[in-house]
Amino acid sequence: MAAFRRHVCIRERLGASFGKVVPLLSSQPNSIDTSALVSFVDLNPATEDFRTAVIDGLSNPQKELPCKFFYDERGSQIFDQICDLEEYYPTRTEISILEDRLGEIAELVGRGAHLVELGSGASIKIRTLLNALPDLAQYTAIDISRDFLLQSASTLAEDYPDLDVAAICADYTTDFEIPAAIKRRSSGTVAFFPGSTIGNFTQEEAELFLRRLASILGTGSGLLIGVDLKKDAAVLRAAYNDAKGVTAAFNMNLLSRINNELGADFDLESFYHDAVYVDSLGRVEMRLISKKKQTVSVGETTFAFDENEYIHTENSHKFSVDEFRQICEMAGFTPIASWTDKNSLFSVHYLTVG
Ligand code: TRP
Repeated sequence: MAAFRRHVCIRERLGASFGKVVPLLSSQPNSIDTSALVSFVDLNPATEDFRTAVIDGLSNPQKELPCKFFYDERGSQIFDQICDLEEYYPTRTEISILEDRLGEIAELVGRGAHLVELGSGASIKIRTLLNALPDLAQYTAIDISRDFLLQSASTLAEDYPDLDVAAICADYTTDFEIPAAIKRRSSGTVAFFPGSTIGNFTQEEAELFLRRLASILGTGSGLLIGVDLKKDAAVLRAAYNDAKGVTAAFNMNLLSRINNELGADFDLESFYHDAVYVDSLGRVEMRLISKKKQTVSVGETTFAFDENEYIHTENSHKFSVDEFRQICEMAGFTPIASWTDKNSLFSVHYLTVG
């Protein structure tokens, strides 16, 4: 109950400017018990954006769909299965780097810090960090998938009763904010951005995002970020074309979402998933390929597909350690430490703002 009272105080101090602060407990849909959270702020990532983005993307000469829409509840769940796949090395490699470097990370993060995770998903990776950072003042989870966020953050709060856990539902690629009442609860802010999600932006988007993140966090704040490295194309190809077809299901889920939420009529049987490493661009491209010539309606709008024409659904850029550090420097960060695993598959970087 103490946690709930604290939450009420914060809500009163938040004011209206940071989006709707949703009352917790009884009014939550699907009766998620969020009583263990100190606060929840809903920045209401706009839903009509989805329709506009889909129509715009499918209207391009090269049809495309923005990857952030992968992560509805089902998408988030399938993504967790991807992370456990034999072929998908990034998750376990990133965790092993974090585990190897926990001592150094704890020292860099310092005492009384506020750890903010961007794209917290199931909040699994964070436990490795939380276990090693006993002196944290607060952990704030940010995710676009609202119910999934509330569920995961609440479970985490119950498992870490001594830690203040807050949640912000936001699209951190556009409207990300740390409301002042949440921010001032600690001495220093450290953002955690794992999973090489930064690689899912274009280079320009990545720089813009990092620049914005630097200004939101403020001078002296930290960034702990996981970044996938350039490597043999066959290893990359296998990682994004797993034998069990989980990545294919993840990619195809985007079409189901468009069918369900936007009244579209994609025939799921006549598209298939493929992922290709484009060496010249240093990235894996996720594609949904039309098996035949066909038309698809999204509401009132119709789109024609040729046989083998594809929708480009995601990029996953791969970097060298130096390439990545340079991008961060251009965006206003100072690289402090970069770690890799012994096979140079993946990297984790600690940087500070300014
Ligand atoms: N950030 C992850 C990556 O680039 C996201 C991801 C993994 C992904 N597998 C995927 C996105 C398959 C779309 C499809 O590795």
